[in-house]
Amino acid sequence: MNYGMIVAGGIGKRFGGNTPKQFLLLDGIPVIIHSVKTFLSSSGLTETVVLVPGDHVDHMKELIGRYVKESDKASKVDVCAGGADRNDTIMHGLRFIEQKYGLGNDDIIVSHDSVRPFLSSDMISESIECACKYSICTAAFPAVDTIAVSSDGRTIDSVPPRSTMYQVQTPQSFKGKMFMELYEGLSDEERLAITDVTGVFSHAGIPSHIIPGSRENIKITYPSDMDIAEAILKNK
Ligand code: CTP
Repeated sequence: MNYGMIVAGGIGKRFGGNTPKQFLLLDGIPVIIHSVKTFLSSSGLTETVVLVPGDHVDHMKELIGRYVKESDKASKVDVCAGGADRNDTIMHGLRFIEQKYGLGNDDIIVSHDSVRPFLSSDMISESIECACKYSICTAAFPAVDTIAVSSDGRTIDSVPPRSTMYQVQTPQSFKGKMFMELYEGLSDEERLAITDVTGVFSHAGIPSHIIPGSRENIKITYPSDMDIAEAILKNK
């Protein structure tokens, strides 16, 4: 079976403000509802789990009730509390699915950042297909800027060729049981250093396959990204 997982457990430190950015309005509806709608209308998913900060669980349920029509739901949806960081949030979602349905070796999780409102159903299907074949895949887009490595934030150590650099996006789809086993084998230090799902697989020597991301699949990180998102919507 395939499960959607929208990770929204963050509080948006870089964005600032009192309301986490995933709950701000974009085109009259909360940012997170854009991707919730895409997941719930996509075929091939048994359920989508939405993971939010612990004190927003009831609020999120209320938003789904208000903005998503029953007739637009092709699959089930549930809301639970996220964790201390992104991968911990994924683990909360996996434990929830494991308890509710059991988790088989070939069950696929399609994880997505709540603050990337512009994914499509086609990306979800492509991502599921790729993860079934290769166990783990991510959307990624060739880097636009030259990327430099700096270990101290003051001087540049090296500049890898731009043609080999990619900006990693979501969706990231993967075999859920495999992720759990790999994550449970990491030390606390390794868990702190690895920020996304692909990092957990690469730490074990398992390459993540790339599915094409897009320039429009932006992540809302800073307030000015809301203006970019509004402009993208206007052009659609
Ligand atoms: N996320 C999560 N659980 C956490 C931290 C982050 O589910 N404990 C989610 C965010 O809600 C977001 C996605 O991971 O949908 C990408 O993270 P990012 O843009 O870094 O969001 P925040 O952690 O909220 O932002 P910041 O790093 O500025 O605090």
